[in-house]
Amino acid sequence: MNIFITGASSGIGNALAHEYAKRYSGSRTNIGLVARRSEHLQRLATELQNLYQINCAIYPLDVRDSKALITAAQDFIARFGAPNIVIANAGVSRGTLTEYPEDTAAFQAIMDINVMGMVHTFQPFIAAMKESAKQNQTAQLVGVASVAGVRGWPGSGAYSASKAAAISYLESLRVEMQALNIHLSTIAPGYIRTPMTDLNQYKMPFLMDANVFAHKFANAVENKRRFIVIPWQMGWVARFMRLIPPFLWDFSMKKAPHKKRLDWDWL
Ligand SMILES: NC(=O)c1ccc[n+]([C@@H]2O[C@H](COP(=O)([O-])OP(=O)(O)OC[C@H]3O[C@@H](n4cnc5c(N)ncnc54)[C@H](OP(=O)(O)O)[C@@H]3O)[C@@H](O)[C@H]2O)c1
Repeated sequence: MNIFITGASSGIGNALAHEYAKRYSGSRTNIGLVARRSEHLQRLATELQNLYQINCAIYPLDVRDSKALITAAQDFIARFGAPNIVIANAGVSRGTLTEYPEDTAAFQAIMDINVMGMVHTFQPFIAAMKESAKQNQTAQLVGVASVAGVRGWPGSGAYSASKAAAISYLESLRVEMQALNIHLSTIAPGYIRTPMTDLNQYKMPFLMDANVFAHKFANAVENKRRFIVIPWQMGWVARFMRLIPPFLWDFSMKKAPHKKRLDWDWL
């Protein structure tokens, strides 16, 4: 089994790497791990290799850098062959407000990482996966969206817009990939306990541990779900949110807590 995961240095990506390593331990499994913090990736790779006797390749890079992802994909394919599963999970979230000029750079970064990062991740693998799908090998793309992409959340304009864009982009790609026998799953997490949500100072309904989420995620991918919200309770919340007319949404969100606006030196 060949699996390539972006955003593996922390949170959901880290939990997914553990889940897949455990799931396919004992068979010949190769996992490609992507993120910017190389020391986190190195530590994770050593841990997975020792715990589950699988093979890991690390690719410390920024998903905004399309050339770096092309090079990583070429290396992965040369070493292990086409991936069976590519998971575009890397993402960032911060509070943003359009009225502050200093937030413009944050809007740009969030859109580039959360949307273009996905395109950069999938693109260099599609040709090889198309060939392996012809040989009846599993070929699956998985994109991590968010319930925040279902409606516009106040204080999170950049994040909501990026995840709404991701949801639409992934749907277009899913239909395009049908002819190539490459399956695509969109996974929309609700609230998952990770460093990203550790920053939130408000109540997060149905908050789920990352390892529990990763198990359900891998099951959904195995079952070739096209679009799924995890946890399921947030799926019903999302369905309901979609139905609310704009005036009711505005009213219910009037006093909604805002995500923190932070320094932008992490860009
Ligand atoms: N946690 C939730 O409740 C929740 C809910 C809905 C959706 N999501 C989505 O789930 C995904 C994972 O989030 P998380 O909660 O696990 O957050 P996290 O713990 O902050 O992890 C984010 C991961 O993305 C990587 N990343 C960020 N920017 C990157 C860049 N420019 N290039 C390469 N890697 C980058 C980070 O690694 P480096 O910093 O080392 O680069 C890290 O590994 C995101 O797409 C997020 O939007 C999360």
